[in-house]
Amino acid sequence: MCSHTRTHRRTQCLPFFSSPLSLPSRFDIYRKVPKDLTQPTYTGAFISVCCCVFMLFLFLSELTGFIATEIVNELYVDDPDKDSGGKIEVSLNISLPNLHCDLVGLDIQDEMGRHEVGHIENSMKMPLNNGHGCRFEGEFSINKVPGNFHVSTHSATAQPQSPDMTHVIHKLAFGEKLQVQHVRGAFNALGGANRLQSNALASHDYILKIVPTVYEDLGGKQRFSYQYTVANKEYVAYSHTGRIIPAIWFRYDLSPITVKYTERRQPFYRFITTARSSVGRSQWPGSSTPAYSQPLKPGRKSRLGKCHECVCVCVCALLHTSPVFI
Ligand SMILES: *[C@@H]1O[C@H](CO)[C@@H](O)[C@H](O)[C@H]1NC(C)=O
Repeated sequence: MCSHTRTHRRTQCLPFFSSPLSLPSRFDIYRKVPKDLTQPTYTGAFISVCCCVFMLFLFLSELTGFIATEIVNELYVDDPDKDSGGKIEVSLNISLPNLHCDLVGLDIQDEMGRHEVGHIENSMKMPLNNGHGCRFEGEFSINKVPGNFHVSTHSATAQPQSPDMTHVIHKLAFGEKLQVQHVRGAFNALGGANRLQSNALASHDYILKIVPTVYEDLGGKQRFSYQYTVANKEYVAYSHTGRIIPAIWFRYDLSPITVKYTERRQPFYRFITTARSSVGRSQWPGSSTPAYSQPLKPGRKSRLGKCHECVCVCVCALLHTSPVFI
């Protein structure tokens, strides 16, 4: 049986039972150095300060991780908002700077056989450009089946010769308004669409895919909204009787997939345990094992050992507990 003493770096080979140590203490791998054989050093102080700063950093990053709410998304196939009676609220705000308000109207059509021309409930037409233009602001509901709504002159009593359909869309949104900063969604994907430079006589088609979206906050309250993607085209249409009256079409269809965002917060006990372990892990090395205390005969080797151990502890603590790396 060979025992290895640190102070003299000499290997002594002793018969197992002739050791002065009692049998159970031979299994101690963290052997103690008597207190009067240790002394503080500048290197030790430096490493201790570094470790304290590092512990503080770990603790603060745990704390910010605990305070921040994370948002988890999931997808599933379902209609999340069954209680709505199969309707979706639409809010539209569009300006046509070169079309008189008397001519502007909204028509709604869908596959359930709905065909409404000149929808006026909850809508407002405001003259722009001294009456040359018009802003249409409307709220209406659509059924959850494919269909379209369009802004055109179809509902006007007399059709103008050449209606100018250039426009700016300020807002087109479906469902409840979600005011959440952490979700970068497409709730108003067409907001800001500017077609003022387009051919005045062109029709515009916006083809929308509406994606049901549920947002559940920390309190478990659910809000239902919709996001959408858009493809668009612009064309001047003719039939055998001549040019077709242009319109701004919004053709929509619903996605069967629902997106759900859920706010989550780390449970308090997890914060306590991770904070405790990150601080505990990076405790100054000298306190845990005697190998880092300065031996009676100071040597280069032990100092190097100290540095090495501190780096190790820091890297391990970072990899295991800091939320930055998870
Ligand atoms: C519609 O958009 C215009 C231009 O951005 C804005 O001034 C107006 O307040 C909007 N209307 C509504 C009801 O949001």
